[in-house]
Amino acid sequence: MDTAAEIVVDAGCTVGDVHPQIYGHFIEHLGRCIYGGVWVGPDSKLPNVNGLRRDVLDATRAIHPPVIRWPGGNFASGYHWEDGIGPRNKRPARFDLAWKAPESNQFGTDEFIDFCRKTGAEPYICVNMGSGTAEEAARWVEYCNQTTPTHDALKRATLGHPEPYSVRYWGLGNETYGDWQIGHLTADAYSRSCSEYAKLIRRVDPSVKLIAVGCDSQDWNRRVLSECWKQIDYISLHKYYRGGEDYYDVVAAPLDAERSLAELSRIVETTVPAERQVHIAFDEWNLWYPEADEQSGLHQRASLTDGVFASGIFNALHRLCRTVKMANLAQLVNVLPAIVTDDEGRIYVNPTYLAFKLYVDHTGTKALRTEAFSDTYRSQKYGLDVPYLDASASLGPNMLHLALVNRSKVDEMNAVIRLRNARARAGGSLSELKGERPDSTNSFETPNTVTIG
Ligand code: AHR
Repeated sequence: MDTAAEIVVDAGCTVGDVHPQIYGHFIEHLGRCIYGGVWVGPDSKLPNVNGLRRDVLDATRAIHPPVIRWPGGNFASGYHWEDGIGPRNKRPARFDLAWKAPESNQFGTDEFIDFCRKTGAEPYICVNMGSGTAEEAARWVEYCNQTTPTHDALKRATLGHPEPYSVRYWGLGNETYGDWQIGHLTADAYSRSCSEYAKLIRRVDPSVKLIAVGCDSQDWNRRVLSECWKQIDYISLHKYYRGGEDYYDVVAAPLDAERSLAELSRIVETTVPAERQVHIAFDEWNLWYPEADEQSGLHQRASLTDGVFASGIFNALHRLCRTVKMANLAQLVNVLPAIVTDDEGRIYVNPTYLAFKLYVDHTGTKALRTEAFSDTYRSQKYGLDVPYLDASASLGPNMLHLALVNRSKVDEMNAVIRLRNARARAGGSLSELKGERPDSTNSFETPNTVTIG
């Protein structure tokens, strides 16, 4: 059945600049994300470039990642960066206390930077505020960014990288508010520690952008912002929603994320003096299925519904573009994955990946005021009335992009598009995420069940 809807795009009213970094990614030492996903080593029988898996490099390049966050996640809170540099056969194997698994340290800072350079992404490194120290973090910045002939900068040069890596984004810890985290802290203790880390890191490189840990507790956010606003550039938020449950709740979840991000934006506005800009980094987001447990290495099989969910997230991020300036899907390969590989050299991409492809290829630089009018349904879970149609428009050079999500499981939609303050030329093109059913999935055997058509 066709249902009626209307979309009003005002080309004369810009909401803000769409920051390319909202299409960012995240890779963590966890399950098969790094080992078997990003990294197979130079001696692998699988095609690789300096040990980086070639098919993953190609698939990653195709979605033009603007920024990649590493090494965690929870893993970051127990990671000592010096274990991961120098000749690989001399690096210590450690027991990773975050995920309770062996860590070979074959993939470290130099390999990560190589992955970023080869995929065109900016590196974003999260420092260890669990078992590490501020001094250790500052020396990591020295290793990456300094040109001075001092110990850590010289070490980078002697390992074959004379040019500084110029890593701009540094995360000050990960989910420190949670009791699962190595180095769990109260908001006040985190704020003090965050200031100390920021102080030392900025002494090494004042130009870096620092991302503090935020969360869904506004009390935490207010305390961190009040104490640290002078030193930080971003505050983060992580959001995971349960995958595979009621379809209509899953596709409503981006509106819940939008509500939380808007709430965090309000806290930033009311806590941080106007002379300083603190943005939001939504630096972990995804659906998380019950099957993705520690035994499976957080592996899950995503369906077309996941692609609809991801598209809803992107539309929300366009609407919030004045405050949310970075976002990172958790995660790129094999862990809650966008890309899936096996050890035989097979690869396929999930509908979430395809949503990235669609939006990265078809989003302009300016978000336009866009309203969508359609029937709604009630999501009890989120206490929201959810419109079946979600729309966001953006303007690129000589081109208006309209991104639409039809949340209905069964109905096609007949939408009238009204364009204000501009005249449309004839023509245009349409790309869409296609699959037979909301639960259609891709696999190694059937990699094109869900496609872009
Ligand atoms: O992405 C998986 C894990 O989820 C991350 O390590 C952690 O930050 C979050 O809880």
